Amino acid sequence: MISKTTIDNVFETARVEEVIGDFVQLKKSGSNFKGLSPFSDERTPSFMVSPVKQIWKDFSSGKGGNVVAFLMEHEHFTYPEAIKYLAKKYGIEIEETQQSDEQKQQADERESMYLVSEFANKHFQKNLHKTDLGKAIGLSYFKERGFTLETIKKFELGYSLDEWDDFTKEALAEAYKLEYLEKTGLTIVKGEKQFDRFKGRVMFPIHSMSGRVLGFGGRILTNDKKAAKYLNSPESDIYHKSKVLYGINFAKQAIAKEDNCFLVEGYTDVIQFHQSGIENVVSSSGTALTPEQIRLINRLTKNITVLFDGDAAGIRASLRGIDLILEQGMNVRVCTFPEGEDPDSFARNNSDEALAEYLEENARDFISYKASLLMEEAKKDPVKKAELIRDIVNSISKIPDTIQQEVYLQECSRIMDISENVLFSSLAQLNAKSGRTSPQQQQQKKSFDVVKEDPQPKTSKVDEQYELEKKIISLLLQYGTVEEEFEDLVLKEKEDGEFGLEKEMQRTRVFEKIFLDLQEDEIAFANPKFRDIYAELISRLNSEEKFEVKNFINDIDPDQASEITSILMEEEQYKLHEWDRQNIFVKAKTETISRHVSETILSLRRFLINQKINELSEKVKTPDGEQQTQHILEDVKDYLTLKKVLSEKLNRVM
Ligand code: CTP
Ligand code: MN
Repeated sequence: MISKTTIDNVFETARVEEVIGDFVQLKKSGSNFKGLSPFSDERTPSFMVSPVKQIWKDFSSGKGGNVVAFLMEHEHFTYPEAIKYLAKKYGIEIEETQQSDEQKQQADERESMYLVSEFANKHFQKNLHKTDLGKAIGLSYFKERGFTLETIKKFELGYSLDEWDDFTKEALAEAYKLEYLEKTGLTIVKGEKQFDRFKGRVMFPIHSMSGRVLGFGGRILTNDKKAAKYLNSPESDIYHKSKVLYGINFAKQAIAKEDNCFLVEGYTDVIQFHQSGIENVVSSSGTALTPEQIRLINRLTKNITVLFDGDAAGIRASLRGIDLILEQGMNVRVCTFPEGEDPDSFARNNSDEALAEYLEENARDFISYKASLLMEEAKKDPVKKAELIRDIVNSISKIPDTIQQEVYLQECSRIMDISENVLFSSLAQLNAKSGRTSPQQQQQKKSFDVVKEDPQPKTSKVDEQYELEKKIISLLLQYGTVEEEFEDLVLKEKEDGEFGLEKEMQRTRVFEKIFLDLQEDEIAFANPKFRDIYAELISRLNSEEKFEVKNFINDIDPDQASEITSILMEEEQYKLHEWDRQNIFVKAKTETISRHVSETILSLRRFLINQKINELSEKVKTPDGEQQTQHILEDVKDYLTLKKVLSEKLNRVM
């Protein structure tokens, strides 16, 4: 177990905006940051991070919480994994409390697989750098390919000795379980026998966005035509090929900074580009790009440049996959290399400057590129022209933005020498056939869906009590310890013996005011979540010298923490909305804290009294009630008087 001191230290040091910034491109927006939700496929940013409160909220999925909650959601870390990740990021030493054998055994399966993979990664690197065979075979291979030692170390390249079970033997000796060696695919088990999957190959570890080793690619060193050039780790609980991009952990910052991502096919293309000073590059590892992989990139930038090896057949086959990128509203450019060259060889054969210049000059917009390519084909085979038009229009139909669609149709009309009308009607036909609505309609439908998915759906009748209780929690969180002047009206006997309301000023902290006022009516919250949070909050505000919301959130039960994050961020979103849309100067809330507090308390009290009055009126109608009518009516009268007093107070406040 990680010690409490380490956990506290981690929470004190970690900055939510820095941690999330490694995964999501954030832009400053007022005192907060905004970005595209990493949890849903959206085009307008609804993901917010508050550096002041050290929390985040994703309005499209409803998720939110502190820095650890983000890592648990996004990286699927367990709580200890998230703490360890943060400790590593901020250079905090982890202090472990004694772990029992039983606890060790219980350590979760995925964690064990990560550990096995990390061990394998170290082992393969040790082979490469420290054994004679590794140096003679593996290291000299990489050097021959032009990789510097620095590059080899950065990418943690390794070597799997040409023996049947070198790795497996050592892993077992280090007490790693065969079960996990097999589950990660590093060892192949056949009956009693065990073999290393990657025997005799140079190794490329594959990392997650956050830098954990998920699997490996191993390249053969011989020219054996029968054996596969690359062997890869099989799909497993920690390695989902469709969700991983090779190189993303080394590229994420550069992608965000350059606002563009180069997409290549192979491991070596990525590595060679890095060595040539281009770091915003990832590889799909030879397979067709998946929507999940595109989403990974989409979080970091809207712009992607696909680099094709210089063989025509490959390009033609890859074109269709690009429609998937268009569908996610990204801008796609393509760049081809001279016949016989791939990005790796081109980068190696040219200076850094020449490479950068080549990419700059040869990257072309995808749609116009495709249109030109198809035109060339059509020249050879005019009968095919109609088919090619459908093909390009199909690509254009994937673009979510209608204005952009129109620009492309015009462009293609020029390139392909076809009237715009033909292209437009072809697009309309296509949309009609596939039952596709226009992009605008789609967008509308989507935002409607989002509203429906809201975890607290707004029913037509607003739940006033729910809103008021929430408001009270919100006030406590934001201004609990602030000291304010409160105006109160107290019932006093005047000289003439009549009772009347008299103004009295009182200086007190917000949480005391709320607590005492609510206690006066013995108000208990109806919503059980709010009730618990309220009790916890009051006790903390009362006992802590220096109450801080972020510490509070880190300490309490995750369910409550998530509720609180929602409350806080709702306020923020409201403010931001106003700023963004109308550039309104929002009057500082603090000026009106006292009014806000009084208004909310009084509204809640009045609401509850109304409820009471209604209950009593209903009761009179029951057979039981009829006998006590007199009693009940007296109660009602009392409540009505109280309500009148409250309404009067409320009027004065507002
Ligand atoms: N690939 C694979 N299995 C294969 C062949 C290729 O997984 N049998 C993947 C690898 O990720 C490889 C990528 O597809 O990096 C591109 O393949 P290719 O162009 O053939 O390899 P290069 O990366 O060019 O490798 P090298 O330069 O070492 O030949
Ligand atoms: Mn190659």
